[in-house]
Amino acid sequence: MANNFKISESEIQTQCEYMKRVAAIVSPFSPKAHIRTYGCQQNEADSERIAGMAAEMGYTLTENVEEADLIIVNTCAVREHAELKALSVTGQFKHLKEKKKSLVIGMCGCMVSQEHRKEDIKQKYPYVDFSFGTSMLYRFPEILYTCLTKNKRAFYLDTASSGNIAEGLPVVRGSAFKAWVSVMYGCNNFCTYCVVPYVRGRERSREKEKILREVSSLAASGYREITLLGQNVNSYGKDLYGDSYDFADLLSDVCKIDGEFMVRFMTSHPKDASKKLIDTMAENDKVAKQFHLPLQSGSNKILKAMNRVYTKEKYLELVEYMRRKMPDISITTDIIVGFPGESEEDFLETLDALEKVRYDNIFSFLYSPRKGTPAAGMENTVPSDVKNERFERMLKLQNEISNGKNQAYVNTVQRVLVEGRSKTDTTRLTGRNEKNRLIHFEGDDSLIGNMADILVERADTYALYGKLVK
Ligand code: 5AD
Ligand code: SF4
Repeated sequence: MANNFKISESEIQTQCEYMKRVAAIVSPFSPKAHIRTYGCQQNEADSERIAGMAAEMGYTLTENVEEADLIIVNTCAVREHAELKALSVTGQFKHLKEKKKSLVIGMCGCMVSQEHRKEDIKQKYPYVDFSFGTSMLYRFPEILYTCLTKNKRAFYLDTASSGNIAEGLPVVRGSAFKAWVSVMYGCNNFCTYCVVPYVRGRERSREKEKILREVSSLAASGYREITLLGQNVNSYGKDLYGDSYDFADLLSDVCKIDGEFMVRFMTSHPKDASKKLIDTMAENDKVAKQFHLPLQSGSNKILKAMNRVYTKEKYLELVEYMRRKMPDISITTDIIVGFPGESEEDFLETLDALEKVRYDNIFSFLYSPRKGTPAAGMENTVPSDVKNERFERMLKLQNEISNGKNQAYVNTVQRVLVEGRSKTDTTRLTGRNEKNRLIHFEGDDSLIGNMADILVERADTYALYGKLVK
């Protein structure tokens, strides 16, 4: 099957030329770049490419926005709250521009991939120099060059080549031991509440050889954890290989790569999560026994209105199959509370699903209407006090479940990947086990990036606490 999504090598070469031109302009001033990222792992992965290109153009990355010569805000649009956050943070950069006229401020990501937001920024944020949509990421060098040389503001949504895949861009990874690897971009599902298909375009897969090469090189450089990313990884390959090579095949090939690393993946749509994929997980030690399977709602009526294309019963069957194949698998989910038309009975169906599945963790969200999505025009909206009350009830139930699950770890030894110092208590290190459980313990910095065995001594709703065994 033909893949017409690939950006040609000559287009990437053109961007490499722009990188050199920008470097020639800015390098003498030892410039610094600050990248602020909101939203999901896909955005994190995109920011690593932006950082890679910035580094190639002579910028040193800085955490300190005050000293930056270039600021990039990578935005999210999935809920209104995320958009307001990005807007308010960008607003705070105005005074930096007043102090330093040469400061360049750019925005990218899902929020500015929407026409109305792009226009908002252009009109109301005169100190923002440029913005570009998600599919224009590879043209960042050209956009920055134009901004620096023409002294002109520029706001791009898309081009004729929109939705393409750019291979071979430089990357600066945020971690030396955990890496994101995008396997596909975009989404075709059009869940009625979701803005993603509008801002990230149609599904398109990376060629398997490119993915396997990237993972091999990460494994050879000592990466311990590799997360395969896509909005709906289970659709991987359909556009490139039809039915002859799917995500389960890719996962299996990734596991054949030499090295001591663990593989995770996200996100899976329940309508496409196949038994073949679950079997592949069960058969491969390298795959973490953890599955993120967004339920969104436990009510069949709401699932239908959301265009999720599965029922609660089908979902529970899938969970049952997973647990049969991998009895200790950790399952997490996303839930939206207060979708239009959600009655008390519908909500009770969601609570019932939580009780039946007993998730290790849930990510719960108040429904947020997104401009341009079908749900934004639906009637029967749920009043915010009702939404909030349901949200609290759901959290209370899940906290009890999570706490019970965490207590079961007490007096067991857990192998963790040590991630760094705890943000709340720097005397402690934090790590995550295969199930992605957070574990705090005392130890020295030399452990960071390595595996360690921890005896769990106590647990609460959110984390485990223990001591180093080895
Ligand atoms: N309102 C609330 N939550 C949303 N999500 C996606 N769109 C919305 C919305 N409009 C949630 C879904 C999805 C997660 C990434 O964000 O639960 O799985
Ligand atoms: Fe959004 Fe649904 Fe696609 Fe997930 S599967 S990105 S929720 S449209």
